[in-house]
Amino acid sequence: MQASIHQIIYHSTATRAIGEEELGRLVSQARIHNYSHAVTGILFYAGEQFLQVLEGEPAIVAQLYEHISYDSRHTNLTTMRYAPVAQRLFPNWSMEFSHVQSTALARLTSYFEPEQQAALLPDTIDTQEMLTDLLLKFVAEATAAPPSWLHKDL
Ligand SMILES: Cc1cc2nc3c(=O)[nH]c(=O)nc-3n(C[C@H](O)[C@H](O)[C@H](O)COP(=O)(O)O)c2cc1C
Repeated sequence: MQASIHQIIYHSTATRAIGEEELGRLVSQARIHNYSHAVTGILFYAGEQFLQVLEGEPAIVAQLYEHISYDSRHTNLTTMRYAPVAQRLFPNWSMEFSHVQSTALARLTSYFEPEQQAALLPDTIDTQEMLTDLLLKFVAEATAAPPSWLHKDL
């Protein structure tokens, strides 16, 4: 039987602008740690906002989430989803990283707000399934986007 997996999705605000080099170091370090603890996920950064998906064995992700929450580089952590899942969404990513548009990130975050869901969605909809689809679509668009430097001289 497959071990149970918990998924945590949260957003937070950077306490200061974090440059490319520091982000690169943060992600490389995270990948090494996550790989050795079978944690997978993705981290988005936009206009000093983070959104991260963490997936892994319940006790491991709980401990990691707590550890990350003490990181002084961000604050106002808001848990958008903390739930058992049948399977990982990102089994091959120790921690994918992507820059995204702030507006897109804000839109994705708003879908997870219970008030928004109550206002916008009929009761008959499987909200969790819909949110997963939205997240996957968002990830597909974000990670397929060409790097920003490609546009510089066009
Ligand atoms: C937004 C954000 C996401 C992070 N994600 C991870 C992660 O997925 N895995 C990880 O090991 N560290 C992650 N970190 C870094 C940890 O908070 C911490 O700096 C790192 O684990 C090193 O901890 P240590 O200095 O106590 O060894 C993240 C930090 C931030 C600000």
